[in-house]
Amino acid sequence: MPVTAVVGAQWGDEGKGRVIDYLAEKADMVIRFQGGDNAGHTVVNDLGLFRLHLVPSGIFYPATKNIVGTGTVVNPDNLLREMETLAAAGVDLANLWLSDRAHMVMPYHPLLDGLEESARGGTAIGTTKRGIGPTYSDKAARWGLRLGDLRNPAWLRQRLEQVVPRKNVLLERYGAPELSVEALYEQCMAWQAALGQRIVDVLPMVRQAVQQGQNVLLEGQLGVMRDLDWGIYPYVTSSNPTAAFAGAGAGLPASKISRVVGVVKAYSTCVGAGPFPVELLDAAGDELRELGDEYGATTGRPRRVGWFDGVAIDYAAWLNGMTDLVVTKLDVLDTLAELKICTGYRLGDEILTHVPDTALLEMVTPVYESWPGWQQPTTACRRWEELPAAAQRYLRRIEELAGVPITWVSVGAAREAMFDVMRDQ
Ligand code: GDP
Ligand code: IMO
Ligand code: MG
Repeated sequence: MPVTAVVGAQWGDEGKGRVIDYLAEKADMVIRFQGGDNAGHTVVNDLGLFRLHLVPSGIFYPATKNIVGTGTVVNPDNLLREMETLAAAGVDLANLWLSDRAHMVMPYHPLLDGLEESARGGTAIGTTKRGIGPTYSDKAARWGLRLGDLRNPAWLRQRLEQVVPRKNVLLERYGAPELSVEALYEQCMAWQAALGQRIVDVLPMVRQAVQQGQNVLLEGQLGVMRDLDWGIYPYVTSSNPTAAFAGAGAGLPASKISRVVGVVKAYSTCVGAGPFPVELLDAAGDELRELGDEYGATTGRPRRVGWFDGVAIDYAAWLNGMTDLVVTKLDVLDTLAELKICTGYRLGDEILTHVPDTALLEMVTPVYESWPGWQQPTTACRRWEELPAAAQRYLRRIEELAGVPITWVSVGAAREAMFDVMRDQ
């Protein structure tokens, strides 16, 4: 199937990086279609352990073109740092390309992200403070600067002269020092010198790949529950991690996406604020956090953890048009005697089987069904038949609630610890 979108089907951190790394072996191109360096996509392979923030997770295959797409927002300093780390580990970056239409996270964006979070006080979103919200806000308000602007110094200077005074008014209101156009311009020229050759009009490249029927992977960041439109607004990110946006963010028609792979953990986690009905606030939650090593890849914050949410997966499957499901981190549940799956949200006398808007979601309590654990290791399993019967039943229930077939199961962080269910059944 030539064009495949790989998207987060929960709150983020489902294991998208490891799934892309696995699937990219057969891909000609991988395109990150939204988000910025708020992403922390972990890949464990023979070169080591990597936490990718902006660089697409297909980068470990030198022949695969890796594109930071138009729908992303790029902090050039952080990208350069990430590239340095990768190069030092022996990763070939010759095939890394940046869309000239992607917006830049400017130095004032993370600054404003932090200041705005403080201003929200008790209702802070818990952002990664990477400037993602302020950058997308400027994009929508048409005050943004794009990577392609770096190639046109006169245009760039004019844009900075328009934008920076507006930012300074805001910074002054927060009591923060003002920024100079000149310093930012110099900074931009340094970025151009370091990245200029990679900044291209990616459309001809993408179009040719799709028209030739090459294998193209579209890499989503975060997950549907943090989608700007369908997530738990305002506790969301400022872009759309759902497959519907993948075409726009990558530069191809929606009708060309032939497969949508939803990545889901065998339980739930979330980083940041907002309603999370399945959250475990007791010792069971602490145990699950430790078993899964659930600490944020970008901020290191402990992740909130909970049982599998069958209502959210149905929502994710519909909104993304999922054709396949990958279940990751099954092995994390190996030692537990009993597992729970949420099948509804209780709201007063009603049991909801859909995800309501945020204010209502804050009031629901989960309705659980109980499943026996398998209490044996699964990490070495490489075929469906090798999984314990209780694990198979648990996965079949997830599949049923999603209404989407499970195509791959992941039982460890390493590249080889994932297997194809269809092939082996
Ligand atoms: P992403 O943002 O969706 O790419 O996910 P993250 O990288 O933020 O979080 C997933 C974490 O789980 C990473 O630390 C991965 O190395 C790890 N991981 C992924 N799949 C598995 C798995 O099947 N088993 C275990 N034990 N760890 C996994
Ligand atoms: P990956 O790609 C988990 C969360 C933040 C916050 C909200 C908005 O690794 O899944 P932002 O910085 O985007 O303005 O923050 O989204 N968040 C993530 N949570 N994984 C991520 O990335 C995240 N990126 C942002 O915690 O609640
Ligand atoms: Mg992550």
